[in-house]
Amino acid sequence: MPLLLSASDPQAVALAAQRLRAGGLVGMPTETVYGLAADALSASAVAGIFAAKGRPSDHPLIVHIPAPAAPSAQAWADAVSPLVRDLPDVALALMQAFWPGPLTLILPRRDGVAAEAAGGQDSVGLRCPAHPAAQALLQAARTEGVLGLAAPSANRFGRVSPTTATHVVSEFADLGDGELLVLDGGACAVGIESTIVDLSRGVPVLLRPGQITPEQLEAVCGQPVRARDAQAPRASGTLESHYAPSAQVRLMDATDLTQALATVPAGKVAVYARVAVPSQPGVQQRTMPNSADAVAHELFAVLRELDASGVAEIWVEAPPAGSAWDGVRDRLTRAAA
Ligand code: TXA
Ligand code: MG
Repeated sequence: MPLLLSASDPQAVALAAQRLRAGGLVGMPTETVYGLAADALSASAVAGIFAAKGRPSDHPLIVHIPAPAAPSAQAWADAVSPLVRDLPDVALALMQAFWPGPLTLILPRRDGVAAEAAGGQDSVGLRCPAHPAAQALLQAARTEGVLGLAAPSANRFGRVSPTTATHVVSEFADLGDGELLVLDGGACAVGIESTIVDLSRGVPVLLRPGQITPEQLEAVCGQPVRARDAQAPRASGTLESHYAPSAQVRLMDATDLTQALATVPAGKVAVYARVAVPSQPGVQQRTMPNSADAVAHELFAVLRELDASGVAEIWVEAPPAGSAWDGVRDRLTRAAA
């Protein structure tokens, strides 16, 4: 079993930083989802992430960095300069607006740095997470000489991302204490992975929707943010089928869902909907909140919980229109693929 320690214990954070220095793996709480972290500049440590996740090694990982003590444009530029070859003004504007926070920026990578974490791309994905425990770990690792932490979501490849420390432990239950230390920083506030913007190809391109919406990005960029196209680099979070529980997820509108439910046999289906459906013996139901942020916060935990009940199908009411729901809609569409 992985070793589970409280992220608010400074000794646990120090121990985790030492493990990272030694090339080991740490389950790191962030405000989006838990990450499976390792030294981003160590080829063997990064290989450990790919092996533990069962993820193909040509899928690039996000590199997490600590926040500067006094954030300013110059301080952010200095913070990323060991990894980034050139830094467009729009990147600095986005960092100042949204970092630390749930935004990943794809930037031109310096030759020979973090090549394995970048999965062979000539760019690097960078994020400065807002969770205080992530910042404490990143700072402690920096003190140990670790520049940044490569961290994909701490789940087995293709599975639902973890939003609690218990999820991480259950994903990697077959690993030994010595192989994975998980820091428990509570339930992730945002609950879905960061918004990803590619700034390595001239114009900003949205690679993955998240809590930060295209409108918010465009207001800061002062230019349109394009939707991703076929040329976008391969990104596992953008594979058609991802975030999949064992049960089949079906997205349905409120009317279809209510009608179909009337004839469903007990124990076969679980429901996650905003519409009030009549309670029915043998059908587990969860009420979906009305705000996109509240749904994002609980979405992956709800999918895990309903999946664990052993049903064949999870019927989910399709999210409403509007860009605030883009992140949730994207994750649900992939879970249903
Ligand atoms: O919120 C998050 O971003 C979480 C937490 C742990 O920070 N991390 C996360 O990592 O979601 P992961 O590996 O599950 O998803 C990272 C996404 C992938 O789709 C990956 O392909 C993309 O970022 N990515 C990373 N570096 C890239 C690059 N250089 N070019 C294109 N895509 C990149
Ligand atoms: Mg992931």
